[in-house]
Amino acid sequence: MGMTRRQFIVLGSTAGVGAAGAAILSRRGSANIPSSAQRGPERFVSAHGLLNVELVAAENWVHLAGTRALLYAFNGQVPGPLMELESGDEVRLRFTNQLAEPTNLHFHGTHLSPEGKADNVFLQIPEGGVFDYSFRVPLNHPAGFFWVHPHLHGRVARQVSLGLAAPFVIRGVLDRIPEVSAAREHFLIVQDFELDSRGRPVDPGMSAMMLGREGSLITVSGMRNPQYVIEQDGLLRLRLLNASASRFLRLTLEDHPMHVIATDGGGLAAPQSVDELVLAPGERRDVLVQGTRESGSYRLINLPYDRGGMGMMGRGMMGGRGGMMGEGPRISTGSDATGTELARIVYQGRSEQRMLLPHALGDVDALLSSTVRRSFELRDAMGMIPGRGMGMRFLINGREFDHERIDTRVRLDAVEDWEYVNSTTMDHPIHIHTNSFQLVGSDGRPERAWRDIVIVKARSRARVRIRFRDFVGTTVQHCHILDHEDLGMMATMLIER
Ligand code: CU
Ligand code: CU
Ligand code: CU
Repeated sequence: MGMTRRQFIVLGSTAGVGAAGAAILSRRGSANIPSSAQRGPERFVSAHGLLNVELVAAENWVHLAGTRALLYAFNGQVPGPLMELESGDEVRLRFTNQLAEPTNLHFHGTHLSPEGKADNVFLQIPEGGVFDYSFRVPLNHPAGFFWVHPHLHGRVARQVSLGLAAPFVIRGVLDRIPEVSAAREHFLIVQDFELDSRGRPVDPGMSAMMLGREGSLITVSGMRNPQYVIEQDGLLRLRLLNASASRFLRLTLEDHPMHVIATDGGGLAAPQSVDELVLAPGERRDVLVQGTRESGSYRLINLPYDRGGMGMMGRGMMGGRGGMMGEGPRISTGSDATGTELARIVYQGRSEQRMLLPHALGDVDALLSSTVRRSFELRDAMGMIPGRGMGMRFLINGREFDHERIDTRVRLDAVEDWEYVNSTTMDHPIHIHTNSFQLVGSDGRPERAWRDIVIVKARSRARVRIRFRDFVGTTVQHCHILDHEDLGMMATMLIER
């Protein structure tokens, strides 16, 4: 029922593309020679209005980047299987926790009830436990690229950084725009891992946790430097997700502008062409790439991004042995000045006709005014880190997360402006559950785009406008540097009638 297997076809590495090279053809790609075929990623697709999924989280030796690694996996694969459905569909997801610790699931970016058997992050599914998630995706839910990951406070960074992430794709109007549906589609799920020579994960240590752990191995959909075929005059649709625990991505594609058609929470009004895309952990972008070059291969590069450091406080805490810059440890960007190659697009063949970009994508309403203004201060402070001793804790309005406490009460259907004031020396990408929002510019005008993560840069502010639609209940907001969330930077909100 609704379950099919998606077979990606993997070409052997020929033509001097190096051992890591593997060209992936899309679902619309013509058949090709699977010279070193391995089991393709699993895929669950809804049928007759129902998406039936079985997900098992377990510690497994998995195939990753051409080697084996001992990770946490959904259904034995990293990233987890693709779930694909339409708005209005019913979802029945049987989740089995075979990890040696409790966990749960969050449907990142979706607009679902935050309670009951839906997007409820207050659930705790014990070791060996089974839970049946069951909900209906609203008929008016925007099409988009969402994702499933664990969300049990205190364990999120570890569980996600060990591999637990799976794409959850809702199809809709955007997918039916002729130019968009004609494009070859690929999901690029970026994760990072720190493994030892035997493929076992390395504990990050306390300093890396406070900064937000980053792994030196960056993978794209479980591969190192995969290649995606583009036809001359053709169109590629790359759906990008930053599923790493803390690493920011700053992406550029050699000699090709990227035409953004959707942000986190749905389509833009028209494509927006950019040369660079910054993706904080958890963020997604949907981009079209035109095959305008003659031939060759072009790199998708991750450029350096400075997301700050621990400042003087970190230096004191690390006994002064922190940094060369005299202000404590900073975050390694994992890149040299010219950046790190993550993937390539490779020209092969020619499209029968020249494929064009869509002119318009749809209407995007703006939230033109708000009735309530709130401010949230992001701070750090010294405190105990369980099992590790004294370290840095992260606070919202002076408090650490407590699931028993209601931090903010809002009215259903109210439109509010939330301003974040970052008093720390690190960027914090704040994610709000249940409802997407619009960024408000310094001119007071909302961006016509739906997001669920706002980057609040070190020592600066950011404002979003949000409307609490359809669902009442308790939900959360938090920093999506998942170590910061685990170290306290999360708060509850109660949406009430
Ligand atoms: Cu998330
Ligand atoms: Cu943070
Ligand atoms: Cu969350």
